[in-house]
Amino acid sequence: MAQDILKGKRGIITGALDENSIAWKVAEKAHQQGAMFTLTNAPIAMRMGQINKLAELTGSQIIPADATNMDDIKNLYEKSIDVLGGKIDFVLHSIGMSPNVRKNIPYTELNYDFYNKSLDVSAISLHKMLSSAYKMDALNEEASVVALSYIAAQRAYPFYNDMAEAKAMLESIVRSFGYHYGKAKKVRINSVSQSPTKTTAGTGIKGFDDFFNFAESLSPLGNASAESCADFCVALFSDMCKMITMQNIFHDGGYSNTGVSMEAMEKFKS
Ligand SMILES: NC(=O)c1ccc[n+]([C@@H]2O[C@H](COP(=O)([O-])OP(=O)(O)OC[C@H]3O[C@@H](n4cnc5c(N)ncnc54)[C@H](O)[C@@H]3O)[C@@H](O)[C@H]2O)c1
Repeated sequence: MAQDILKGKRGIITGALDENSIAWKVAEKAHQQGAMFTLTNAPIAMRMGQINKLAELTGSQIIPADATNMDDIKNLYEKSIDVLGGKIDFVLHSIGMSPNVRKNIPYTELNYDFYNKSLDVSAISLHKMLSSAYKMDALNEEASVVALSYIAAQRAYPFYNDMAEAKAMLESIVRSFGYHYGKAKKVRINSVSQSPTKTTAGTGIKGFDDFFNFAESLSPLGNASAESCADFCVALFSDMCKMITMQNIFHDGGYSNTGVSMEAMEKFKS
């Protein structure tokens, strides 16, 4: 494995709640590759999570921020630039939450206040983070922003509930802001559409374990792990991917391009 591909780069990593979090693995890998970064999460998650342990492991400072709150986001950039000693080279958006999913409300009966909250936390927060950075000029030229998505943005996944709309919106923000930030400062913005992964957010979805097994049986390479997702995020942050922007890239072991697998066919043998 190449070493130090993020040497000298300064970043912000959102969404590390516990060791299972995709963001946790990204922080570990970015640290191994020589990056300096700050860690952030919603103040409430700080109390429940184990982020202090990760901060110790990676020599990072924690700056609490609710990603829906513009004042918190501004403070996050100001403090990060101060702590890291310069503007930011990479940002990981690894944030998702739906009150409708949490409360097991069926898609056909969505609570609309909750619906707005799902979109705000899981998608509009990316726009807020980008627009704050844009106004503050907080990102360096050629910085790289990565958000995490899921294939329910394009296809119907009944159990994914209103998170499907949140991910569709997230991917649209990636394209739209990618255009503006690319023109202005060559900043790259991409989303990584990840396999089902056993994390707090993932396993909070009803029927997750069954679906995890289904996806595993359909993907020629099997489900992509959180660790391999982190490797890919680090590659996107690096200078090896300078011309990739406004993309949603499937990181799913081939699942998205597989119609049916022989293993799945076996189950329906007549
Ligand atoms: N786990 C999966 O199967 C899977 C698959 C594809 C994409 N993703 C996406 O990956 C990302 C990370 O999720 P994960 O699976 O690592 O789960 P996770 O539960 O570990 O991470 C979700 C994070 O979002 C944070 N968050 C929630 N509300 C917030 C707010 N208002 N402000 C700031 N942070 C807030 C949580 O505290 C948590 O740290 C999410 O966008 C998720 O949708 C997950």
